[in-house]
Amino acid sequence: MVSPDRNIIIAIDGYSSCGKSTFARAIAERMNITWIDSGAMYRAVTLACMERGLIREGKLDEERIEKELKDIHISFARTGEGTLTLLNGADVEEKIRSIEVSSNVSLVSKSGPVRRKLVSLQREMAINQSVVMEGRDIGTVVFPHADIKIFMTADPEIRAGRRYRELRKKGTEVGFREVRNNLIERDRLDATRSESPLTRAPDSVVLDNSYMTPRQQLVWFEDLLSKPESLK
Ligand code: DC
Repeated sequence: MVSPDRNIIIAIDGYSSCGKSTFARAIAERMNITWIDSGAMYRAVTLACMERGLIREGKLDEERIEKELKDIHISFARTGEGTLTLLNGADVEEKIRSIEVSSNVSLVSKSGPVRRKLVSLQREMAINQSVVMEGRDIGTVVFPHADIKIFMTADPEIRAGRRYRELRKKGTEVGFREVRNNLIERDRLDATRSESPLTRAPDSVVLDNSYMTPRQQLVWFEDLLSKPESLK
């Protein structure tokens, strides 16, 4: 049961482009707690690998990444307009959303050393505060004892459409098919990797938002909060 007099952890996992960030941000605002996008952390490490030439011909240089991880620092800056992802202190928020980073992120996020570093950083971030953290392994690996676990899913065509419109709105020249293929391939790689694959925690509550607006999802969440039996 969620109690307001101690720090709480809300874990949100699910497939790519399910609207996890929109939902997690709305919950954070509603509960006045910190929102953490763990995917942004994997994206920032991916960008660092690309910039350091650690990805060649579709392969990550595992030996070098293990050595260089100590020089890769990921953090977040909260601004009036939102949250920025920082890589060694530099704002990389826009760069990490590019299709190039999206195409390489599965490769980097299956690396054991990368996961160990980021999981420990994610746990540190929740030591002194209540958080809503979104990702792929939050309810299964990072916080198996989270107070609330939500597993998000939606029809792949609908998810691809949302992602496509988002990228086009930002001015990215990209085709629908490329976006859909990237999304389906990322789902496949995320769910089949040996290190912390994307899987639904048995004690999570499923939210299929294929035909739900952000407002309806928040109402669904309020409803969940009002039913203590569905919480831990
Ligand atoms: O949530 P996103 O699409 O921005 O995440 C980018 C990638 O990072 C995703 O394809 C898988 C990986 N990821 C992960 O392996 N574990 C997490 N907790 C979050 C993201």
